[in-house]
Parts: sequence; structure tokens; C-alpha cells
Amino acid sequence: MLAGKRILLIIGGGIAAYKSLELIRLIKKADGAVTPVLTRAATEFVTPLSVSALAGEKAYTDLFDLTDEAEMGHIELSRSSDLVVVAPATADLMAKMAGGHADDLASTLLLATDTPVLVAPAMNVRMWLHPSNQRNVATLSDDGIARVGPDEGDMACGEFGPGRMAEPAAIFDAIAAQIADGPLSGKKAIVTSGPTHEPIDPVRYIANRSSGAQGTAIASALAALGADVTFVTGPADVAPPLGVRVVPVETAREMLDAVNSALPADVAVFAAAVADWHVTSQSGDKIKKTADGAPPSLALSENPDILAHVSQLDEGRPKLVIGFAAETNDVHANATAKRARKGCDWIVANDVSPETGIMGGSENAVIVIDESGADEWPRLSKERVARRLAERIAEALK
Ligand code: CTP
Repeated sequence: MLAGKRILLIIGGGIAAYKSLELIRLIKKADGAVTPVLTRAATEFVTPLSVSALAGEKAYTDLFDLTDEAEMGHIELSRSSDLVVVAPATADLMAKMAGGHADDLASTLLLATDTPVLVAPAMNVRMWLHPSNQRNVATLSDDGIARVGPDEGDMACGEFGPGRMAEPAAIFDAIAAQIADGPLSGKKAIVTSGPTHEPIDPVRYIANRSSGAQGTAIASALAALGADVTFVTGPADVAPPLGVRVVPVETAREMLDAVNSALPADVAVFAAAVADWHVTSQSGDKIKKTADGAPPSLALSENPDILAHVSQLDEGRPKLVIGFAAETNDVHANATAKRARKGCDWIVANDVSPETGIMGGSENAVIVIDESGADEWPRLSKERVARRLAERIAEALK
């Protein structure tokens, strides 16, 4: 699966460093090559000898000496891989990355690299939640650095919460999603997902019942086929997929901005249940009940139609634009009309009447409509719908 691929694995100094040994084993089992680098602190948790024995290669450490530099310079080392993985990514290492520091081998490599980077954070829950760490996490995400985890659970320090490093198998999946060769390798995809929230006042909003499950499954399936996916998600119930660039948004207008920033792309899939309207003048203060009991009236304005906007771009239109049609009646006719109205290539239509259990449920029954007609799929899990759609996309982009 990873034959011909090389991972520069930077092991940070945390108790989770022992899990990086298992990660090396998984990468090797999938025929990938690993160049291991340990920070000075990491050598307190795992030995360079065990790391290098598992990797079958020299383990570089902070004691990077002139002999090493003559063998392989740090610039070359930073660029001679397909992916740089930082696992565990400690709070300190992520702060260095966010700040652009280069005061040891690991941070110098991370600053010098032009290769995609994936971090697997691991730290105490308070450290993870600390505003300065959260700022660094946001900076790294803005810099295009992919992240897997952290997980929530019991921690080595005896506390409970987010901060535990993702399991090696999950890190491996994220690595595979980033670099494994697939029919969509080298293709860029944008997927919108989830509901949008349109604020009424600081505490209330207009929303819908979308869980984000279908969009999440589609992003995951595209990444598994090798696509480079930007996942623009409203406040969803389900966790975002691994191995994609996640852009969280709240409103339809923010979603449009995020999609515009993610362009150009080869394919864009609009699975989000975007609110059609926003409250025209959002109140800065919580709206209070009045003495006479008269309810407030909410004036609504139409939201931008993101799918129509992208479908009708004169320049930079993705080769394939796919919309969804959530209908409660006349699914086929309404969806066909919607495809024409919006100008997208395919419409994935589904019946979201409450009795179908589709919205917020785990299954979907869709009709895929393109210029040549309608293709009705059986009722399947949302994951299988996603896989089938991703394969159809790969075929169309060949
Ligand atoms: N969509 C969008 N931006 C909007 C509204 C919808 O990008 N402001 C996209 C959705 O992501 C979906 C498609 O348009 O891919 C159709 O969404 P749907 O809610 O079914 O259609 P609407 O355009 O809202 O039409 P209506 O509600 O009148 O059926």
C-alpha cells in the first residue's frame, strides 16, 4: 500500500512515544520506508536503537553531528520523504512549529521542509485545552498542516479528556489517506458538510437536522482514493474524517468564503444542508420577552447559494461539481429541475421525509442524476453510498 513511499517520522518527547514503535511497524508492514528522527526528550522515552531496529534505518537524534550532515544534510533530510509525521506531537513541538522556531534538529527539519506534514498531538488534557495550545493548533491548521487526534480518554497522567495520542492504526490510516496511491492521487476535492447555524442573537440560532454523516463519509472515501480533500463543515454531530484538511464554519456566508478560499479544485461535492436564509439583522444582545407578550418578528434574507455560485463560475470552475437535493416529495422531478437551475454536473437526490429516517440516520437511498439521466441506487449505509460516489468521481476524472 505504501510501496515506494517514505515517511520522515519525528518522535517527540512524551509518554506516547512508545506508540510510535507500533506505528513504524505498521508502515513497514505496508511496505513504506521510515526515516526516524527523535527529539532529545524523545530519547528519554524510547531508545534510538529500538526505533532504528524497527525502521531498519539510522535514527537521527539531536546529536546530529558533522558525520551525519556529510551523509545527508538536514535540508535534504527534510525533503526526501513523501510525508513528515510528528508523533507524538507534544505541546512544545507544536508551539515551535507554530512559531517557526528552529533550535533543534526536529524543529529545523519542520521549518525547512516543503513536504506535507501530519501531526498526532499527545499531551495532558489541560495542556491540550490551554488557550495558547489551542492558538497553536489553529495556526498549524491554517498553515495546512494535517492533524489526527488527539483522542479522548484515560491518560497516563491519571486525568480524563482530550489529549491522548490517536492509536497507531488511526495514524496509519491518516498517513495512507495522505500519500497512498489511488485513482484520485494528485486530485483536489472540496466537500461541504453538516448544517449551518444562522444566529438570531448571541444565544439562539436557526439550524436544521443534518448530522454531517453523509458529507463526512464522502470526504473520507475521496481521501481513501488518494484525493487531497478540503472539508468545509458546519457544526456537525459526527467527528470530521481523518486525513483531510478541516475548515470549520458556522454560517452559510462563512461556508461560501471557505469554499472560495479552497478553490481551485478538480471536484467539489456540496453535501451540506445549507440554511436558505439568515436573520437580516442579528441582535447583538439576547432578545428579551416584552411586557405585552408580543413575539419578535424575524426578518430573513436569502443566503448565497454556494453550489450555484461554484457551478456558474466562469473561471476556475471545478471539472466536476456535485450537488445534493434534499426533497420530501417528487424527488426525481424536483432534483432534475434543481440540477438545471443550479448548473451543477450531477445531483445526488434523496428523500428526506421524516419516515425515511435518512436525515440524521445511518443509511441513504439516492438517485444520481447527470446529463444522461438518473441512476437509482439501493438503500445503503452512508459509508457505502460515499464509497460508490467516490469511485464514480474517480472514473469521471480519469
Ligand atoms: N446549497 C448551497 N447553498 C445554499 C443552499 C443549498 O450550496 N445556500 C447546496 C446544498 O449543499 C445542496 C444543494 O445546494 O448540494 C441543494 O440543496 P437543497 O437544500 O436541496 O436545495 P435548495 O437550493 O435549498 O432548494 P429548496 O430548499 O428550495 O429545495
